[in-house]
Amino acid sequence: MSLAVQQSEALSARLDHVRKALIAIDQAHVLTFANELSSEALAAFLDQIEGLGIHRLASWAKEAVIQANATVDAFEPAQYRALHDRDRDADQYRSIGQDLLRAGKVAAFVVAGGQGTRLGLEGPKGMFAATPLRKLSLFQSFAEQLLAARQQYGVSVPWYVMTSPLNHDQTAGFFAQNDFFGLDPHDVFFLTQGVLPSYDFSGRLLLSEPGCLATHPDGHGGSLRALVESGAIEDMRRRGIEQLSYFQVDNPLVSILDPLFLGLHVAAPNSSCEMSAKTLRKRNADEPVGVFVQQGHQTRIIEYSNMPKALQIACDSQGHLLYDAGNPAIHLLSVAFIEHLMARGDLGLPLNRAKKIVPHIDLQTGAHVTPSAPNAIKLEAFVFDALPFAKSVALLEIDRFEEFAPIKNSMGADSPQTSMALQAERAARHLEAYGIRMPRKADGSLDCVIEITAQAEPQLHQIQNDEAHQVFESGAQYLLCVKEGRLQVDRLL
Ligand code: UTP
Repeated sequence: MSLAVQQSEALSARLDHVRKALIAIDQAHVLTFANELSSEALAAFLDQIEGLGIHRLASWAKEAVIQANATVDAFEPAQYRALHDRDRDADQYRSIGQDLLRAGKVAAFVVAGGQGTRLGLEGPKGMFAATPLRKLSLFQSFAEQLLAARQQYGVSVPWYVMTSPLNHDQTAGFFAQNDFFGLDPHDVFFLTQGVLPSYDFSGRLLLSEPGCLATHPDGHGGSLRALVESGAIEDMRRRGIEQLSYFQVDNPLVSILDPLFLGLHVAAPNSSCEMSAKTLRKRNADEPVGVFVQQGHQTRIIEYSNMPKALQIACDSQGHLLYDAGNPAIHLLSVAFIEHLMARGDLGLPLNRAKKIVPHIDLQTGAHVTPSAPNAIKLEAFVFDALPFAKSVALLEIDRFEEFAPIKNSMGADSPQTSMALQAERAARHLEAYGIRMPRKADGSLDCVIEITAQAEPQLHQIQNDEAHQVFESGAQYLLCVKEGRLQVDRLL
C-alpha cells in the first residue's frame, strides 16, 4: 500500500473516531462539510477539535446554555484605602516600592488579546493612536513609561505582552516594525492566550469556515494560564521578578509602575498581598463598572450586570453610594500567587457568558452569515475572579482623573475623544498644581491641547522656576518634554 493511501486511510479512521465522539455529545453537525475538505484542511480541523478536547466542548456547551446569572452569596462593601501624597504612610510605601523597582523585582504585563469590537478597529487595539498630540500608539505610550522607568530606577523592566491567536502576528510585527519603541527586544516577551468555542443559544457549536470552529479569545482571565504555559513565569523566575503589574491595553493613563501601589501591595499592614487592585469611586449608581465587595475574608468583584439594582443604588445616611468601589482593572499579582493558583491543576476561574454577534457558516448552504443581532454565546474568564483565591488583598483608591481614561467605544463615553480630553486635562492639572495658569473655557473645560512625555513627568517641578511666566494660550498645542536633561515646553501650533 502506498504511503498516500495509508495516510488517507489513517485520516478517515481519525474522522470516524471524532465523528463518533461528536455524535455522543450532540455536536456532529460541525462535520457537515468534512467530506468536501482537502486532506490538509481536514487534518487541521480535526487538530482543532481534538486540541480543544471533546469532553471540554461538551462541558462548555452546558455553561453556554445556562440562562440565569450566577447567584451571588451575601456580601458587603469592600474596604479600600486612599493614600494621599502627603500621608506619612504613603511616603513609606512609596519608598518600599521604589526599592523593589531598583532591585529589578517588578515586571509589566499588558493584556492585549481582546477583539476591540466596540471600538470597531481592524487589528490590535494596542496599535491605536491614543495620545492627544503626538498620537502615540497605546503600545508606544506604555513603552515610553518603561523607558522613563529605566532612566529613573537604573534597571530595565521586562514587559510581558499577551496577544490572542487572532492578533498575535500583527502585534509582534508592529513591535518589530517600530524597533520595539526603543526597548531591548530581549526585555519584551510575547505570550498568546487560549481560545474558547462560540455556541449558539441552544449550545450548538458554530463554524467560522466549513473546516473551522468559530472561536474567540478566552478572556483576560486566560492570561494566568497563558503566563504559565508560555514559559513567561519561568522567564520571570530566571530574572528574579517577584511582582507583576497587570494592566489593560486600553487605558493610556495607567501608571504601570506605581511605587506607592507596589509598596502597599508588598508591605500592607497585615501581610504581603498575593493580589492587589486599584479602585476608583463610581461616578454614579449607573456607571457600568464592576464593584469590589467583601464576602467574609474574600475580596471579589461583582459585575455590574450581576449587581441587584437595590444594592446598586443603596446609599449611606449621607447619601453616598454604599457600593462605590469601581474596578479600573489595574492589579498587582505576586509571581508566587500565580504559580500557586496554577498548581491547583485547573485554575478554576468561572466562565462568564456574553451574548455577541458571531459570523458563522450556514449549515444548509455553506454560506457565510453575519447576523445583525447577537446570535451566540461567548464564554470568557475574568482575571479579577482570581481575587477570592488571594490570602491577602490591598485595595488602593485612585483619582480617576489621574489614572483612568479608557478607550472602549468608537464614540460617546469611554471613546478616543473622551480619553484624549482626559489625558490633556490631567496634564493641565499637573501644571496648575505648580501655579501655572491654563486657558479654560467658561464651562471650565481646557482650551488648549497638552501632552507630557513620560520622561518629563518626574521633571515637572522644574516648571516652577524656569517656566513661571510661561503663558499657555487658548487654542494652542504644547508638548512638555525633556531635552538635554531639562524640561522643555514646545509649542506645536
Ligand atoms: P474588554 O473587556 O474591554 O474587551 O477588554 P475587548 O475585547 O478589548 O473589547 P470589546 O469588548 O470587544 O469591545 C479589556 C482588556 O482585556 C483584554 C483587552 O485586550 C483589554 O486590554 N482582553 C480581553 C484580552 O487580553 N483577552 C480577552 O480575551 C479579552
